[in-house]
Amino acid sequence: MSDFLNAYSIQTWLESCPQGYLMDTEYGHAADAREPDLVLENPVVRQEAIGTTVQLLVGERAALAASSGLINAAPDHPSKRFLATQTLDEARHVEIFTQRLYDLGVKKAELEDVIAAHASPHLVRFAEVLLEKVDKGDFVAGVVGQNIVLEGLAFSVFEMMHAGNVEANPKFAQTLAGTIADERRHVGFGENRIGSLIKQHPEKRPEIEQMQKDMSYHMLATFADRFRGQAAAMEESRRISRDAAAQRGEGAKSQQWHGTDLASADPAELEAVLADTVLKEFKIRLDRIGLEYQTPERP
Ligand SMILES: [Fe+2]
Ligand SMILES: [Fe+2]
Repeated sequence: MSDFLNAYSIQTWLESCPQGYLMDTEYGHAADAREPDLVLENPVVRQEAIGTTVQLLVGERAALAASSGLINAAPDHPSKRFLATQTLDEARHVEIFTQRLYDLGVKKAELEDVIAAHASPHLVRFAEVLLEKVDKGDFVAGVVGQNIVLEGLAFSVFEMMHAGNVEANPKFAQTLAGTIADERRHVGFGENRIGSLIKQHPEKRPEIEQMQKDMSYHMLATFADRFRGQAAAMEESRRISRDAAAQRGEGAKSQQWHGTDLASADPAELEAVLADTVLKEFKIRLDRIGLEYQTPERP
């Protein structure tokens, strides 16, 4: 328990996060960093960036509601303190992705309308399945849903987006890098804290496994909404970005992520590599905490 106390203490959080990798950042990035001109000026690229950022924001609002809601349900004080740091991390993520929407030209008065227009209904449902557990004060299910499923999803999505933006958009890539570092800590807490609680409450396993299956289905359906439903706009945005890079005399750089070249893959291939990566991660992490991964329906 003492390693656990140290690793997830407020002191460790202060030293590694606000006094560490977030030092000298503003809204998660260097103060002078800006969105590339192409993203700000081309309507297709800008809309694509807004649509993607809205999904991140919806996920982070769910994480904020879940991590704050779990504080009072936590059975021990070290977990409460960790969840308090996580609550601030999630509130920061909500703030930086909201700020990115403003940076992309969304007016403050239109924020909620823009979110409602772009949010995948399946992502909204994904969050509801989790928050039903949190609202009941079900700590074990809530932590599995939040720190294993939601954050396992967020972690892989952010990593993939980071790989895709590290050359093209250093400002957004830096914002994502800080978020990834936070999510790594959150996922670690989920694995470390929840394994022993599952052993103490084996009767909860079927219900938690059903929640994982339901959340996984809504996650895959969210990917389908984006990569299939928005495939034409996504491809157009990518083509414009490639042409602009070529005009600047930059050749197409391959950007490998889990064996797929993000620069040349089509939306169907991107969807497949993301879904496979997240589901494999779920399986590994659930196995570590003593739960059996449930294969979701395929949308
Ligand atoms: Fe987050
Ligand atoms: Fe998180």
